[in-house]
Amino acid sequence: MSDSSGIFQTVRDAVRIEDIIGEHIALKRAGKELVGLCPFHDDRRPSMYVSPQKQIFSCFVCASAGDVFRFVQNYHKMTPGEALRYLAGKAGVTLPELSSRKGADTATPRQRLYEVNEWAMEHFRQCLLSRGGAAAMAYLRSRGLTPETIENFRLGLAPEGWTHLTDAATRKGHTRQELIKTGLGKARADGSVFDVFRNRVMFPICDVTGRVVAFGGRVIPAAVPGKADAKTGVPTEEGPKYLNSAETPIFMKREALYGLDVARPEMLRTKTAVVVEGYMDVIACHQAGVTNVVATLGTSLTAEHARLLRRFIETVVLTFDNDEAGRRAADRALEVFIREPVEVKIAGVPDGKDPCDYCMSHGGEAFKQVVGQALEALEFQWKILSGAFRATDSLVQKQQAATAMLRMVAMAMHGTTMDVLRRGLFINRISELIGISVDDVVRSLGKISVAAPATALAGQPAPGGSERSAVRDARMRAQQWVIGVLLTDFTLYASLGDALTLELFSEGAVRKLAAELMEYVEGAVDLSRCSLGEFVGMLGEGPLAAMAIEYQREAALGDNLQEKLTGSLARLKEYGEAGLATGAAAISAESFSDLLSERRRRISPHEGKKTD
Ligand code: UTP
Ligand code: MN
Repeated sequence: MSDSSGIFQTVRDAVRIEDIIGEHIALKRAGKELVGLCPFHDDRRPSMYVSPQKQIFSCFVCASAGDVFRFVQNYHKMTPGEALRYLAGKAGVTLPELSSRKGADTATPRQRLYEVNEWAMEHFRQCLLSRGGAAAMAYLRSRGLTPETIENFRLGLAPEGWTHLTDAATRKGHTRQELIKTGLGKARADGSVFDVFRNRVMFPICDVTGRVVAFGGRVIPAAVPGKADAKTGVPTEEGPKYLNSAETPIFMKREALYGLDVARPEMLRTKTAVVVEGYMDVIACHQAGVTNVVATLGTSLTAEHARLLRRFIETVVLTFDNDEAGRRAADRALEVFIREPVEVKIAGVPDGKDPCDYCMSHGGEAFKQVVGQALEALEFQWKILSGAFRATDSLVQKQQAATAMLRMVAMAMHGTTMDVLRRGLFINRISELIGISVDDVVRSLGKISVAAPATALAGQPAPGGSERSAVRDARMRAQQWVIGVLLTDFTLYASLGDALTLELFSEGAVRKLAAELMEYVEGAVDLSRCSLGEFVGMLGEGPLAAMAIEYQREAALGDNLQEKLTGSLARLKEYGEAGLATGAAAISAESFSDLLSERRRRISPHEGKKTD
């Protein structure tokens, strides 16, 4: 044991934690330390600190902390032994007897999956390089790939026949179970195993550290005409053009990105990831010198992808090659953008070409320009909706487009959360794009939320009783004045001392709004910099935002804000002392919209001045 702790220390000394962590997440210098997004919780502001001096990392949010081994183990879900091998490999330290003693029998099941995949990858490579691989090699070369590219991406060949790989595996001592578990083999009814990938060019899919987690296989177009589909040159009896490994504990399609390991350095450098659709697109882009390119695997970009990429980059550029694909990309982009703090842009490749064809015919620099001209996803959406692509310009259509845009945004935002800052920026951007005020955007979004079924706040119906309803109305109005006035001039809060308490407000939505407001102003460093927009942004889903905006609008109609405030507060105190504090005016989300329309009818600017 002391032997092995010695080797841990040797390896620890031989690597620098900032280098190792820097290979996994983007780090920025902050004084003596480096900071980055913590990969161990859903981090939105950099909260992981790495100290080159102390050779430790720590996250002040989720409290994960430790040395370089702890990081590697947590990040890659490795055992200490795996982490040791991994880091020793990086440091060029040889592990003498450890590797031979701890053989296959002690490896974890996940580790075995990696090993079998690694072996299969090597096997496929040899097949491609052998004489039997000549046709496949010729096909890859005919697609414009150089031998270096074929080598870099470790492409291979799964030869024809049902048990080519299975037989080789057996000779090598891998079990059938292992082949099935990796998704490389399938069991027949009689228990025998056959190869999943046959007569296909093989693309190893790697995780961020370069471990093989799965394969993609492409059919090799038949050299003999007549055996193939006339249009695509693809043999018709061979199944789909591309086939992926089934999902395994080390391969989830929603998370996997082809090319991640090779694209990582350039992604870190440019803070940008270009996302394309296919294996060949990634490979062609890299060969053309655009090396921050990755591909999703038969899915559109998911929030999981974005979460993974977010550690390396700030901007994702999605590419599309026709309008329909563009529309799909834009829809996805908006959702992903709202759910994960990344900038999402959309780039159209000209002439309906995919990035592979485009790079092959125009070169990498031209493709970089295409990427450079990518439009921010929101702007792209707006262009589609406003018909800017078709150059229509009537006011009515613009209004319809604005409504459609707001509805779409509200839908996309439904049930998700965005931090205050980001929400503010987002709303500002929408306001800029569609040319209506921030308050109008907030209001519209709020209204769309109110229209949606609000479950959280839908309380019991307000108890009836006409003798009480006059008092109830007056009380409700006083509460609304207090909130509305403060939202109009946040600095007035400073004058209240502890006159303002939550108990003054009726239980239900109003009290909830008051609580949010108090929390917001209590937390403010400078009351004069509080804003309605920020506050409303913070409220998120539900009817509260619309209530806040309505109360503010009403309160702001007259003047004498200070008087309104103190007068209303005094009345609320009286009501409270008269024992009306609870229950009497509980408001549900549904009744709120009724209330709004009712009040709109009743309240005029003059009335505002008369109150008290
Ligand atoms: P494409 O059909 O656009 O492939 O599918 P491609 O990259 O242009 O391929 P080449 O140029 O004909 O070789 C794009 C991606 O969609 C997935 C694959 O990931 C592919 O790279 N796909 C496509 C499948 O999973 N199955 C299919 O049958 C086809
Ligand atoms: Mn193609």
